[in-house]
Amino acid sequence: MKKSTVLVCGGAGYIGSHTSVELVNAGYGVVIADNFSNSEMAAVEGVRRITGVDVPFVEVDCCDREAFRKVFEQYEFDSVIHFAASKAVGESVQKPMLYYRNNLTSLMNIIDLMREFGRRNIVFSSSCTVYGEPDKQPVTEQTPRKPATSPYGNTKQISEDMLRDSVAAYDGLKSIALRYFNPIGAHPSALIGELPRGVPQNLVPYITQTAAGIRECLSVFGDDYPTPDGSCIRDYIDVVDLAKAHVAAISRMVENKSEERYEIFNIGTGRGVSVLELVHKFEEVNHLKLNYKIAPRRAGDIVAIWADPSRANQVLGWKAERSLDETLAAAWAWEKHVRGIK
Ligand code: WQD
Repeated sequence: MKKSTVLVCGGAGYIGSHTSVELVNAGYGVVIADNFSNSEMAAVEGVRRITGVDVPFVEVDCCDREAFRKVFEQYEFDSVIHFAASKAVGESVQKPMLYYRNNLTSLMNIIDLMREFGRRNIVFSSSCTVYGEPDKQPVTEQTPRKPATSPYGNTKQISEDMLRDSVAAYDGLKSIALRYFNPIGAHPSALIGELPRGVPQNLVPYITQTAAGIRECLSVFGDDYPTPDGSCIRDYIDVVDLAKAHVAAISRMVENKSEERYEIFNIGTGRGVSVLELVHKFEEVNHLKLNYKIAPRRAGDIVAIWADPSRANQVLGWKAERSLDETLAAAWAWEKHVRGIK
């Protein structure tokens, strides 16, 4: 029997498509909503091929409240996962109002419509960016948030606060915010993965495009940071593991496993990896040489951050399982699939 149904807003995107697969695999019904602002129908087709289920899809902008209302009228679902947001840190500095409008209007519409239609549970995509440059590693959910350093980061903080306040004010609403560390990799089938438009801003897509010959040379931004090899340290989390954290969050709310109505979890591996370590691991796992050079530091980068994921491990019963080797092999397999490389 099918468990309850989840509306996945932004389900054609990178994390949304992987999460849709894991929800279907876990027995949940899924409805995908997306406006293709940074995604393609091919991802929905990938979800359908991997799962063998004809997952329903609606093309809609979650910021367009009247159009979005029709999705609530048409489909029965208890839960919503909100991935439908813009995520490029640099772009958010150039176009702050685009970020505030997209990321906050979509969430406001979701909360209002959930109340209007009596839908209960929402999982929100937050980010480790809310911690800024932490004073102590690893960060726990109790580590204080620092003032945001970009409009993108600010939308994540405001959204968390909006959810906390809404849950406090409106009975019947429950929420879990997942603070992702750095999501990387792709589905092992190589049917879905990350598809950045234009020049990739994030490290792993830049690495895979360099390996594919689309970019000439990877710039490693800084080798003079106060870290063992001088490059920045992050907690890289496999996208399939990350997707499974959403299933755990949904089941916690649907099955009423908690008295708490608003909860926050760090979703990371607990392992810090430097940029240079990641580059060398990618070369080793995929048996290739990457053209890279040391370049100046990138403005706005923090030196190091990695998660203490114990709360998610113990309370959600979720743990990152895939090795960095598997993840980097999957990232390369996906890039090769997209480029038609044998
Ligand atoms: C990782 C490391 C770079 C590109 C941001 C957001 C976060 C999350 C993910 C949304 C850094 C270095 C990168 C390159 C490099 N948000 N790098 N050469 O900045 O940790 O996190 O994206 O989706 O909220 O803040 O991720 O992948 O850009 O960078 O050396 O060409 O790789 O300096 O140390 P970041 P990233």
